[in-house]
Amino acid sequence: ELARLTLDPAFAIGPVDRRLFGSFVEHMGRCVYTGIFEPGHPAADDEGLRGDVVDLVRELGVSLVRYPGGNFVSNYRWEDGVGPVGDRPRRLDLAWRSLESNAFGLNEFMRWSERAGVEPMMAVNLGTRGIAEAAELVEYCNVPDGTAAADLRRKHGVAQPHDVKLWCLGNEMDGPWQIGSMTAHEYGRLATRAGQAMKRVDPSIELVACGSSNADMPTFAAWEATVLELAYDQVDYVSLHHYYDPEKHDEASFRASAVNLDGFVDDVVATADHIRAKLRRSKRINLSLDEWNVWYQSRFTEPEDRGIEDTPALIEDTYTVTDAMVVGNLLISMLRHADRLTVGCLAQLVNVIAPIRTEPGGPAWRQTIFHPFAHTARLARGTVLRAGIQSPTMPTGRYGDVPAVDAVATIDENSGQVVVFAVNRGTEPVALELDLRAFPRVRAGERISIGDDDPAAVNSAAAPDRVCPRTEKMPDLDGGRTTVVLPPVSWHALSFT
Ligand code: AHR
Repeated sequence: ELARLTLDPAFAIGPVDRRLFGSFVEHMGRCVYTGIFEPGHPAADDEGLRGDVVDLVRELGVSLVRYPGGNFVSNYRWEDGVGPVGDRPRRLDLAWRSLESNAFGLNEFMRWSERAGVEPMMAVNLGTRGIAEAAELVEYCNVPDGTAAADLRRKHGVAQPHDVKLWCLGNEMDGPWQIGSMTAHEYGRLATRAGQAMKRVDPSIELVACGSSNADMPTFAAWEATVLELAYDQVDYVSLHHYYDPEKHDEASFRASAVNLDGFVDDVVATADHIRAKLRRSKRINLSLDEWNVWYQSRFTEPEDRGIEDTPALIEDTYTVTDAMVVGNLLISMLRHADRLTVGCLAQLVNVIAPIRTEPGGPAWRQTIFHPFAHTARLARGTVLRAGIQSPTMPTGRYGDVPAVDAVATIDENSGQVVVFAVNRGTEPVALELDLRAFPRVRAGERISIGDDDPAAVNSAAAPDRVCPRTEKMPDLDGGRTTVVLPPVSWHALSFT
């Protein structure tokens, strides 16, 4: 089968915002404890931060990390996690019914962010708490000195403010599972008032309002409309969350998950712009996809059905080659919407539905999904270009016939490098002809691919490199065109320099 892809620098979508390559650290399962933080581990520093994990986070190319939840934040007191460790209370976390030692908290996270070279993105608790606690947290983080909360931070040994710019106003407040969940009207009012107080403390911060927990929520789009109508002037972003379950629908629909994400993003943009028109505002609300990934959710045991545990191994999904292709395709979809979708958080970062896994006391290793993320984060620079694609189609149960090949490109104006990110989500090989006649100065460079004769292949602690990317030289351009074969269920980054 044959597909064609045409690129032209005239078809620019928008700049590549580095914040698209964010991730998420929640106090859930082993993401924090025995994930990024494990005092006594041979690779840990004197503060307990695992250096082997930090190295992998840097290799992954993560730009920003959302913290501390997730559902966890909706019953969290940030004050429990600051000050002398010996004085910190042991609490029952209601989101996951786990014991929280509070040995790791805000200032440890900020030190870890610095070591990992990532921008922190904080969430405030609007489930069991409200305006005062949210404003005090901004004060603790961002005010240099001379106020009670700023001086408390200094007393805790942190002289410089953390200067956190990006803040989530709660988490998934529409979800019945959320501690303190609300109606859209209740949440819209609270988010407006909390946001106002937080911006009074520090007018330079940016705020993310909770959108729906996912596009399948019965209140999806109506929730966004109501919340934004109330909070439009206070907020800068609306959040989107979506996890794709390989076992929920037919397999072909899973491979085509990016079709769903394309539609989800378009619907939220339309809803935000509808409210903009209705309110007659000029400001546009951008999108923060601050939880996304593949998650074998049908295997998940609800918190109510589990006993209370200390650091349980929760949702440590092991990812296949197919999952890696889907993650790569979701990144293609995100780049395609770079004009409005400017924040993304792969959820989560370590152990919990994560690209990085760790063994307590042992090594850290890369899951299959690590690779498309790392290469996209490294290679997507400059401006996103729309790719004109003609592709054979494949049948899916949920979306009908969809193109087997999907792609997007970026051009780095500084180096002149053009990179095409492409997937074959079908089960037949496809010969992809690339037409780059509009770029007379580029030459074919490297091709980095993830694929395998066994699409169910996985990495594991015992075989951490079973699935690795393959790098090879691409065939030279001939008259501005070249052809590469995309094997079934595969992801590719094709560079032209
Ligand atoms: O990432 C796991 C959980 O999924 C988060 O805590 C929550 O926000 C979402 O439902």
